[in-house]
Amino acid sequence: MSLRQDNKKFHTLLNNKWVGSQSGETVKIYSPDDQSITGEIPALSQEEVDAAINQTADVQANWEATEGHERSELLHRWAEELEKMTDEIGEMIHKEVGKTLSSAKGEVKRTAQLIRHTAEEGLRTHGSFIQGDAFPGASKATKAMVQKVPHGVVLAISPFNYPVNLAASKIAPALITGNTVVFKPATQGAVSGLLMVEALVKAGLPEGVLNIITGRGSVIGDFAVTHDKIDMITFTGGTETGRHIAKKASMIPVVLELGGKDPAIVLEDADLDKAAKEIVSGALSYSGQRCTAIKRVMVVDSAADELIDKVKALVADLKVGLSSEDAAITPMIDQKSADYVLSLIEDAREKGASVVHEGVKDKNLLGPTLLDHVTEDMEVAWEEQFGPVLPFMRISNELEAVALEKRNAYGLQASVFTQNLENAFAIADKLNVGTVQVNGKTSRGPDHFPFLGVKNSGQGVQGIGRSIDSMLRDKVLVLNL
Ligand code: NAP
Ligand code: G3H
Repeated sequence: MSLRQDNKKFHTLLNNKWVGSQSGETVKIYSPDDQSITGEIPALSQEEVDAAINQTADVQANWEATEGHERSELLHRWAEELEKMTDEIGEMIHKEVGKTLSSAKGEVKRTAQLIRHTAEEGLRTHGSFIQGDAFPGASKATKAMVQKVPHGVVLAISPFNYPVNLAASKIAPALITGNTVVFKPATQGAVSGLLMVEALVKAGLPEGVLNIITGRGSVIGDFAVTHDKIDMITFTGGTETGRHIAKKASMIPVVLELGGKDPAIVLEDADLDKAAKEIVSGALSYSGQRCTAIKRVMVVDSAADELIDKVKALVADLKVGLSSEDAAITPMIDQKSADYVLSLIEDAREKGASVVHEGVKDKNLLGPTLLDHVTEDMEVAWEEQFGPVLPFMRISNELEAVALEKRNAYGLQASVFTQNLENAFAIADKLNVGTVQVNGKTSRGPDHFPFLGVKNSGQGVQGIGRSIDSMLRDKVLVLNL
C-alpha cells in the first residue's frame, strides 16, 4: 500500500509499510480557510499503538549499533528528499493549517536546513574521561569513561503550528544519536507530517526505526505516554497538555516546549519605527499562532501614543483574508480558538480597554485587534491568546515592566527595545525567561541557538545542539587499575 489511499485518505507508517487502521476508522482534517476536508488519517486503536511501539523497540538495539556517520548520511539524504518535495509538502501545510503557500514552503526549506545541520552536529557528540584523583581518597588509578548513549525509543509529539519543522526538530536529533522514534503528529497537520516521513522513507529509513501513530491525542495519547517501552518523550504544544504528559510520564525524561506570553518592553529611548515593525511582525505573523509571538506590549507612557500610532499604521496595511489569498492575517486554526480570542477581547473591553484597531470577525477569521490601556485585571494581560489580538499596557518605567513580568506564569522569551544597551542588559538580567531579544522580536531561530522556556513555558532545552544533548544520557565505565 502507498501513503495515499485516495485523493483525501492517507495511511500511516508501520515498519516502512503504509497501513490504515484495522477498524477502518479515520479522523477528518478540515481546512481553516473554508472547512473543506483536506485529508483523513487512520484513527489507530490502543492495540495498534501498542504494536507500533513494540515494533519500534524491537529494532532499537540494531539501530543503536549502526555507525554514526551512516545515520548522518541518512539525514542528509532525508534533507535532499524533503527539498524535492517542497512544493507538495508546502501545499499540504498550506491547506491543513492555513499558512500562506510561501510561508508553508519556507517551513519545508527551513526544515531541510535544520536536518542537515543536525546531521553535521550529531557527528561531534562525544563523552569524556575523568581521573579519580581530584577527589580525596581516590587516585589516578581510578578512571571514569563517560560515554553518551541514546535513551532508546523516543516518543515525539508535535503541535499543529509547525507540523513539519517542529516534528523534524525532534526526529532528526533522536535518529542521529541512535534512538528510534514513535512519531505522534498533531491531528491538524498530520498529513504534512506523513509526507515529511515519506521523504525519510525515500531516503532509506530502515524498517521500524520510525513508526507513526495517528489519531486523536485525547484517545491514544495517554496510552502512548505511559507505555513501558517509551524511554523518552519530546513534546511541543500547549502548557496544559505538556503538564498532563509530564505527570503521566513519571520517571522517564521529558522535554517540553510549551506556551508563552512573551512581552515586548519598549522604553522611551527606543527606535520606535523599528520597535513598531518588529512588534507587528512578532505579534501577528501566522495570525499570532506561534508560541514565541509577542503577546503583550509594555510601553513607557511617554512613548506609548507614538508607538501605538506607528503600530496602528502598519496593522492597517495588513491584508486580512484566506491563506489561499496570500493574506497576512489568515483564519485561525479552528472556531474554538477564535472564540477564545473573542472572549479575551470582550473581557478587556468590558473592563475599560480601548480598542484602537478593530479587526473583522468572520467565523474563525479574525482581523488584528489592538487594545490600549490594558490593565492587570484583564485576562488578556496574562492569558496566552495564540491569536491576532495585541494588548498594550502603559508603564511608568522599566521597573514596572520587570515587576509585571515577575508575575507572568510563562517564561519563554521577552523583547527589550532601547538604544541604551547597558540598560537592556540590566533588564535582561532581571527577566525570568529562556531568551531575551534586544531590539528584535521574540522568535526561536536561528535553529542552532538554544531554545527554552521556564515556568509554564517548558522544561529542558532545544535548538539543534541542545536537542541532540537531550537525546543522550551518560553511561559510566569505571576502570580500577
Ligand atoms: P496541543 O493541543 O497541546 O497539542 C499538541 C500535541 O499533543 C498534538 O499532537 C496533540 O494531538 C497531542 N496531545 C493531545 N493530548 C495528548 C495526550 N493526552 N497525550 C499525548 N499527546 C497529546 O497544542 P497545539 O494546539 O497543537 O499547539 C498550540 C499550543 O502549543 C500553544 O499553547 C502554543 O503556545 C504551544 N506551542 C509551543 C511551542 C514552543 O515551542 N514552546 C511551539 C508550538 C506550539 P492531537 O492534535 O491529536 O490532539
Ligand atoms: O510556535 C512555536 C515555535 O517554536 C515558534 O517558532 O519563532 O520560529 O516562529 P518561530
